[in-house]
Amino acid sequence: MTIPGQSDGSVVTTKDAAPGETLLKVTGLQKHFPIRKGLLQRQVGAVRAVDGLDFEVKAGETLGVVGESGCGKSTMGRLITRLLEPTAGTVEFEGKDITHLGVGGMRPLRRDVQMIFQDPYSSLNPRHTIGTIIGAPFKLQGVTPEGGIKKEVQRLLSVVGLNPEHYNRYPHEFSGGQRQRIGIARALALNPKLVVADEPVSALDVSIQAQVVNLLDDLQQELGLTYVIIAHDLSVVRHVSDRIAVMYLGKIVELADRDSLYRAPMHPYTKALMSAVPIPDPKRKSAKSERILLRGDVPSPISPPSGCRFHTRCWKATEICRTTEPLLLELKPGQRVACHHPENFEDQAPQDTVLLSDAKEAAELVPEEVLEESAQTSAAVAAEVEAEATSKQPAEGATEETAADGPEGAAAAEPEESTAAAAEAESDAEASADAPEEPDASEESDESEPAAGGGVSEASGDSGKPEASAGQESTDK
Ligand SMILES: Nc1ncnc2c1ncn2[C@@H]1O[C@H](COP(=O)(O)OP(=O)(O)O)[C@@H](O)[C@H]1O
Ligand code: SF4
Ligand SMILES: [Mg+2]
Repeated sequence: MTIPGQSDGSVVTTKDAAPGETLLKVTGLQKHFPIRKGLLQRQVGAVRAVDGLDFEVKAGETLGVVGESGCGKSTMGRLITRLLEPTAGTVEFEGKDITHLGVGGMRPLRRDVQMIFQDPYSSLNPRHTIGTIIGAPFKLQGVTPEGGIKKEVQRLLSVVGLNPEHYNRYPHEFSGGQRQRIGIARALALNPKLVVADEPVSALDVSIQAQVVNLLDDLQQELGLTYVIIAHDLSVVRHVSDRIAVMYLGKIVELADRDSLYRAPMHPYTKALMSAVPIPDPKRKSAKSERILLRGDVPSPISPPSGCRFHTRCWKATEICRTTEPLLLELKPGQRVACHHPENFEDQAPQDTVLLSDAKEAAELVPEEVLEESAQTSAAVAAEVEAEATSKQPAEGATEETAADGPEGAAAAEPEESTAAAAEAESDAEASADAPEEPDASEESDESEPAAGGGVSEASGDSGKPEASAGQESTDK
């Protein structure tokens, strides 16, 4: 693919990645939001939201990214979709460095990289019909798909399991799950290669979550998509991820293929996250399951703890954890871990490990017999993962939500080539906050307001900083 129109006039050429080849590569990625004070707005510190990430996403795979709230997941998502300008590091897409591409340079790439946002209530502009919302990416780039925008939008509606007849309805007429389907249809409009979904089901009822996750899964098979799916716990990404990255305070602490991670998590934080995921197996109800309760919140990313950032909450912490930062190293094939005393590994901390007193207090220590069950827990989870892998059953039940009587599932998906004609992915994300309440039926021209208040905005024009999402950086006070 050739990308003209960079701010410096040069041209970037990318080569389509074949399945399994690296689509996205991130090296040393950082985002420090400056904290400014006083009349002169001098910088007095920084929120180190993302503090050095290295990972790759391969074409056709799903990378799950998990971690507690505030650990930098959304910032990471916005950096790799280039909605935020990194403080340091590089982002490569299909082998080309896109870290500092200007607005013009990014425009053609926008069709390849799309984002689905967390909140289906605020991410759709209430003044626009869903036809306008889903058709906006075409209009913004002045592209007419074969058969016209309306026909293409209706096709997309049926692809995501909604009724094409509902083209003229407004977002408030749809349930949460259906709104998220609308957001997905918009993201798919330009036939993207990479879709970054930021907590796509967190705002939905549990009964609806599985449907939306299954829809994403089905669309991946049919359209050959590559996903980065962000979630705050392991249960959501578990079924769809090929590999999982666990983030803590702006860093990746463990990155492994799904089965290895569930069978034998190596980072204590991964283990703690995993112990919080209920295992739906009645047979295991009787067996006491280990549950590691992490006390307190994630420490402030303004001044993260020294050494291993997890040491203030880790029950295995020793002196070296406090002083020396562990590197993210491949300790087993395909399993990278940043820990001095990893779990499920021969070099674990010796029995006479001296726990730091603050860590002792921070973590609710589980009794020894429970710790001994650790292996059993891991084995049980592994067995479940294996059983699940062997009996790859279709959807996991659940009935469709009822509002607006759309047809079910993604059955109608046709992996037909859209004209791939370009457009800036208009994203109404977070638009509603500053948008008037009244639906305005005459509103059909999205071009007049690129990215109404958020998302993939080019409205800020100038500097080549697609610092979208109104108010993102402006909150640095
Ligand atoms: N625009 C911003 N300005 C200042 N701090 C920010 C901004 N966006 C995010 N942060 C901070 O960066 C950290 C990571 O945030 P975020 O990426 O949203 O985490 P997550 O998605 O994992 O909950 C948080 O401490 C958050 O307050
Ligand atoms: S390095 Fe130390 S403090 Fe950090 S996770 Fe490993 S054992 Fe815990
Ligand atoms: Mg977030």
